[in-house]
Amino acid sequence: MVTSKLQFEKNHLEENPLTSEGLYPDPEKLLENDSIRLDILKKLVGQSIVSVDQFDRELVLETCKFAALLEATEIASCHPLDGKIVITAFFEASTRTRLSFESAVLRLDGKIISIPTGMVTGIAKGESLSDIGEMFNAYGDLVVVRHTETGSVQEIMQNLRLPLINAGNGSGEHPTQALADWFAILKWKPKLKGNTVPPKYQIHLGILGTPGSMRAVNSFLRMSLLFKPGIRKISIVSEMADPLGPELEELLINSGIKYQLTNDINDVLSDLDVIYMNSIAFLGDSYKTLDSRYKLDADSNLKPDAVVLHPLARLDELDPTLDHTHHNLYFTQAHGAVFVRQALMIAILNRFDRLPKNDIPLSN
Ligand code: CP
Repeated sequence: MVTSKLQFEKNHLEENPLTSEGLYPDPEKLLENDSIRLDILKKLVGQSIVSVDQFDRELVLETCKFAALLEATEIASCHPLDGKIVITAFFEASTRTRLSFESAVLRLDGKIISIPTGMVTGIAKGESLSDIGEMFNAYGDLVVVRHTETGSVQEIMQNLRLPLINAGNGSGEHPTQALADWFAILKWKPKLKGNTVPPKYQIHLGILGTPGSMRAVNSFLRMSLLFKPGIRKISIVSEMADPLGPELEELLINSGIKYQLTNDINDVLSDLDVIYMNSIAFLGDSYKTLDSRYKLDADSNLKPDAVVLHPLARLDELDPTLDHTHHNLYFTQAHGAVFVRQALMIAILNRFDRLPKNDIPLSN
């Protein structure tokens, strides 16, 4: 029997609540019949998070399940980060990442010292990042760093003895964004967490952007390769002749996942289940738009149940007419980042003992 478009919308909305701001899947679905593996999460204790390459699928899954628990449960009253100071050192502009980290800390009763721009630090007088890293040791318990330069994180870490979270380094990586991306996808389709995923649940993943030049897209692609059982195919739509570069191309080939490169969105759009898009790339020494000719709006030829992800900020590639549709998973993606970052910070700072033991499905 063919389901009418109206019936499809009705069924879909019953399963996936749509608020005026898009699709908000229930985080508890990610926890159904499952406990959270503390032994896996404890691998993060005391660790810096620099690259997606530090994660395997098990660790991504346990982090996302823990984030789902934090989203579904009121735990602020346990004061998990009480007495801890997090330094958010942003040498480059940010709306979401700095504010979501700071919101995450404050909601867990930790404290924040914030550098909203490098020009309020000794950088304005020529101070080196490695000297600033040395200073951080005395001021906090965890440092979150964003910078325009890819090498910035390694430079700060030269003298740093605290854990560091890379919140975006030039055209390098943005690992906690990739966790927020997959947190949204797994809440939307929890079946994708399995070691085996039946073909009818596997997704065709489309990337409208250039992974080799865009840090969020780079980290998203790297993390996506960990979810091979749930991925039927990856299609990359880019205006660049070589959107991957040699390292990412080798990773993609070695993953064994079927993939396609194209510069024509119409080759693939109507078959995509998940569309990840971005147009802002760090090229040379500043941010430029790339792939901005690939635009989506509410009239685009999307599969009825396709979802769109975007790390934001958006330009005109992602039209606001999509905001009020069930294709919009990008606001869930942005809002869920608070819980992913809470999960990471509780794990890195080893504050599991502050969680309410009896109410929480934690296993050792
Ligand atoms: N997604 C993201 O990194 O957004 P901001 O640049 O606003 O932090």
